[in-house]
Amino acid sequence: MINDIDLNFLLEDAQNIMGAMHRGADRIQQLVVSLRNFSRLDEAEVKLVNIHEGIDSTILMLQHRLKQTESRPAIEVIKDYGKLPLIACYVSQINQVFMNLFNNAIDALELGCGEYTPLTPDTKDPKPWIRISTELTNLDTVRIRIADNGPGISESARSRLFDPFFTTKPVGSGMGLGLSISYQIVVQKHHGQLRCCSSPGQGAEFAIEIPVHQTMRSSFSGGYAGI
Ligand SMILES: Nc1ncnc2c1ncn2[C@@H]1O[C@H](COP(=O)(O)OP(=O)(O)OP(=O)(O)O)[C@@H](O)[C@H]1O
Ligand SMILES: [Mg+2]
Repeated sequence: MINDIDLNFLLEDAQNIMGAMHRGADRIQQLVVSLRNFSRLDEAEVKLVNIHEGIDSTILMLQHRLKQTESRPAIEVIKDYGKLPLIACYVSQINQVFMNLFNNAIDALELGCGEYTPLTPDTKDPKPWIRISTELTNLDTVRIRIADNGPGISESARSRLFDPFFTTKPVGSGMGLGLSISYQIVVQKHHGQLRCCSSPGQGAEFAIEIPVHQTMRSSFSGGYAGI
């Protein structure tokens, strides 16, 4: 009887199932932590935060969009994090900006793949990627750049990018609000800058610059967020 039901196989299978359940539970735990980090609904005020945590949470929440699809390979996320101090900001709003920029980059790579255009004619590897780099530009400003190797943006579109309701996406898939909201958050709310650098066929790069200190100058601890 034991031979019939192949006890060894069942034992091995049970171990695999337990392993899968463990991994599933870990992933759920990570997602819950990320969601909490991302929304920070309890933190409506300016707080000192490690900006890398917000970026990592955003990436984790977008995993499902980064996976391989029928029309393109998986999107590689390249992190190039510098050493940053804790930043005083409205964290849930800044995370919203990361989310908008990441979603746009993924949408662009969605378009770019299939008849995907490599960056230069001799590029051998047309894998889609998003690169996120952070640096302290001087003692008072951090720069966060989110770049993709998608189809890029035409000059005429570039001049209207931050206008409310400007979209090139089909009806129903884009409201044209992501960048105008992001602009308000970065420029008006955080006294920073949001710029785009792109030409058709050369991918796109968005650079956010925000001051390290907002209204919290006196309580800034000067601690380092490290990586
Ligand atoms: N990384 C990018 N590559 C190419 N085009 C981009 C990129 N980011 C933004 N765009 C262009 O800018 C337009 C405006 O972006 P925005 O985020 O404001 O609106 P949307 O993505 O169209 O809609 P929504 O964000 O409201 O869902 C997009 O429709 C797209 O044409
Ligand atoms: Mg958008």
